[in-house]
Amino acid sequence: MLEDFIRFARKLYPQQDFIPLHAPYFAGNESAYVQATLDSTFVSSVGEYVDKFEQAIAKYTGAKHAIATVNGTAALHIALKLAGVQTGDEVITQSLTFIATCNAISYCNAQPVFVDVSADTLGLDVHSLADFLAEHAEVRDDGVCWNKHSQRPIRACVPMHSLGFPVKLAGLKALCEQYHIALVEDAAESLGSYYHGQHTGTQGLLAAISFNGNKIITTGGGGMILTNDEQLAKQAKHITTTAKVPHRWRFEHDQIGYNYRMPNLNAALGLAQLEALPGYVDNKRATAKAYQDWGKQQGLHFIAEQPESRANYWLNALLLDDAQTQENWLEQSNAAGVMTRPLWIPMHQLDLYQQAQHTPMPITEDLAQRLINVPSSVRHD
Ligand SMILES: Cc1ncc(COP(=O)(O)O)c(C=O)c1O
Repeated sequence: MLEDFIRFARKLYPQQDFIPLHAPYFAGNESAYVQATLDSTFVSSVGEYVDKFEQAIAKYTGAKHAIATVNGTAALHIALKLAGVQTGDEVITQSLTFIATCNAISYCNAQPVFVDVSADTLGLDVHSLADFLAEHAEVRDDGVCWNKHSQRPIRACVPMHSLGFPVKLAGLKALCEQYHIALVEDAAESLGSYYHGQHTGTQGLLAAISFNGNKIITTGGGGMILTNDEQLAKQAKHITTTAKVPHRWRFEHDQIGYNYRMPNLNAALGLAQLEALPGYVDNKRATAKAYQDWGKQQGLHFIAEQPESRANYWLNALLLDDAQTQENWLEQSNAAGVMTRPLWIPMHQLDLYQQAQHTPMPITEDLAQRLINVPSSVRHD
């Protein structure tokens, strides 16, 4: 079976000796736009491509506002800050996520609280959240949701659309509204993914996207904050650009700001990549179907989008029988030049977050032991 998988991956990606998990692809206007920034000398934090890229992302996702940042972690940090997360607060998130989700929470001097994921979306599970809140949370007279166990405010909830599979946002949104908790979507991996026809990252108060080199499109390094709230959008722009009060020559700053603005050079690359995105999504969905059809013949289960969702299939994921099988597949496929990876070590199992409060994690722990990601780059000649 493993040999068949290696053969099948080589059939999907016939030109490569070593088949990476996800390689970027530049076949459109990337060189032209990047060259234009060099010609203009506006390679840094001022330039027309940043505005163009922000507008194009807003249009593509349907978000009212998009604010470009140096990376996705910075986007999430500012999104949490603007959602009101401050020192001593708690932020609920899934344990099955990339460390950046927790880093952004920690940058706010807040504590993560972990809940389980659901096996069908790999994202924050509505029932796990509901159970946790029913047991530990209460909205007090101050209108704030308090954790009765820790006596800290629960300020935000951050579901993550793992590998591009949308979480079930409707239930999460209703719970967040009921408990006065801000919903901030970690949409780092889900550009091009839709839930009930709406782009991921547009249902919460704020969201963050990543354009790291391994994502469906890249700016080299980069991120984007999404929001439908005009005031939050203005503040996001302000504090990501050192909180400088606009003036032609005076350097006046009205709060502690961040140098988180995306450079024009990166935005130029991003704009060209965005032009190619619809084609990339189609291409990757065709690859996902090929894996799934092959999997059916072999009796292997690939994670598939839910009926209410349309996934970008950023990374395809294969669920194996047990931890030993996962280890064998990782060992042998990588030795054969076909890159595979497990998901992340669950956050509640890292030394860093040993003390963090968490729900039981049967699904998270099971997926971490059995799932592997398989090569998923855009296929081309
Ligand atoms: C789930 C998740 N959150 C946040 C990030 C952070 O993005 P970046 O690497 O652009 O900082 C990433 C990607 O790297 C991610 O996968």
